Amino acid sequence: MLNPRFTRIIRRSATALGVLLVAIQFIPSSFDRTDPPVTGEPPWDTPQTRTTFMTACGDCHSNETRYPWYSSIAPGSWLIEHDIIEGRRHFNVSQWDRSQRGGDDAPEEVQRGSMPIGPYLLLHPEANFTADQKLRFVDGLRRTFGNGHAENGND
Ligand code: HEC
Repeated sequence: MLNPRFTRIIRRSATALGVLLVAIQFIPSSFDRTDPPVTGEPPWDTPQTRTTFMTACGDCHSNETRYPWYSSIAPGSWLIEHDIIEGRRHFNVSQWDRSQRGGDDAPEEVQRGSMPIGPYLLLHPEANFTADQKLRFVDGLRRTFGNGHAENGND
């Protein structure tokens, strides 16, 4: 049997945590979830490379983000919004009309397994590639981004 005093402490802590979790839902976010317009895309080598990219990377590196239901619940929503802001800032395939820093590194990031980031993979099993899929994707990224930054996409 648990000591009743201990049980009381646990119960009070759980209640406090619950109240806190509800309270933080009311903290307003400055992040605007209306996707900015797509103004230019890279010259994708094949539609397949684009599809794979949108499946595994587009949520953070394009203006066509899909927001799952749990992305609205704090504190997870804060982390997700932060990833989207940072991800788009490094490399955004929807604004290829502007100069982009990250594209050249994309094949290597995938090959090394550093992108997509770990927590995303846990929640998005469709972004886990087989060795074969990964090879083909890295290849497609190389052909798409390999020759430096294209000024205009082929839409
Ligand atoms: C959950 C959001 C998220 C997903 C999904 C994601 N990324 Fe990223 N990515 C980031 C963030 C945040 C950064 C910037 C911080 C960092 O480098 O960790 C970044 C940075 C990068 C960079 C720039 C690295 C540099 O040298 O500046 C590249 C390239 C990149 N990601 C490629 C990809 C590719 C390719 C995929 C898909 C296979 C992908 N990312 C999926 C969030 C994401």
